[in-house]
Amino acid sequence: MIIDLESPNEIVKFSSIKNVELFIKREDKLHPHISGNKYRKLKYNLIAAKEQKRDSLLTFGGAYSNHIAAIAAAGMEFGFKTIGIIRGEELINKISDNPTLSFAQQCGMQLKFVSRSAYRDKNDPSFLTVLENEFGNFYKLPEGGTNDLAIKGCEEILTEKDNSFDFVCVSVGTGGTISGLINTVRPHQKVLGFPALKGDFLREEIRSFTAKDNWQLILDYHFGGYGKINTDLITFINQFKEETGIPLDPIYTGKLLFGLVDLISSNYFKKGSKILAIHTGGLQGIRGMNMKLQQKGLPIIIE
Ligand SMILES: Cc1ncc(COP(=O)(O)O)c(C=O)c1O
Repeated sequence: MIIDLESPNEIVKFSSIKNVELFIKREDKLHPHISGNKYRKLKYNLIAAKEQKRDSLLTFGGAYSNHIAAIAAAGMEFGFKTIGIIRGEELINKISDNPTLSFAQQCGMQLKFVSRSAYRDKNDPSFLTVLENEFGNFYKLPEGGTNDLAIKGCEEILTEKDNSFDFVCVSVGTGGTISGLINTVRPHQKVLGFPALKGDFLREEIRSFTAKDNWQLILDYHFGGYGKINTDLITFINQFKEETGIPLDPIYTGKLLFGLVDLISSNYFKKGSKILAIHTGGLQGIRGMNMKLQQKGLPIIIE
């Protein structure tokens, strides 16, 4: 049932400026809609859902969630009904204004909007019972998609060919993707994670998924928090696309590459270092972000 996809490495033009080489692993090219880490996180979960004879997938997310869009697309492609529990009751009348939610609905996802306080309690057994009564025998995927099977899938991002890199760098949200990478890198390699949100809690989260310690979080490139951006970041994303042809999203991969380029410029990496950045996708989020930027009269991300 499951596609096995291989992603190409593409070298980035300006990577040789400081005598370091920067490569990007184009996981975003794995699939048009189940792209990047989403495919990796889903692969073994979909196999488990089929084995457990579940006919539907239920998950949770915010208004512009990459995870919601990917689950909706995966359900359509692999024959599952999908249910999205969406944070924010007010969104119920705004589906057509929201590219992520309208895409999910077009893929057949049933959307249930809940208040922010109900959403906070989404892991309470009582809330789960309410959902089971309403939607039946579903396979539950957590917000952001991180669980043990997701990490197993993310352990397939790196291949033998990637052993020559000194650093493997990735954006961090829930910590699942970086945990899979940490579990697979060789002792001579180091994983650098760039959190897309504020807060130090991620270290503990990652430690719960991996026993290894050749990794570090770089905390300086969240741009104020999850979903927060500024014109420097937009300018960078647009320039990067113009120079390399590689699109970046504003929530995750834009911040990762901005951070990496900044670190390279300030001689963080020693001469001769080979760096591999993982492009985890998220490009569906550009349209939603551009709508917000347009409303504020700010420059937009060129698609
Ligand atoms: C495009 C993209 N990159 C990176 C991440 C971070 O991944 P993780 O939540 O596994 O840390 C996410 C969130 O899942 C994402 O959507």
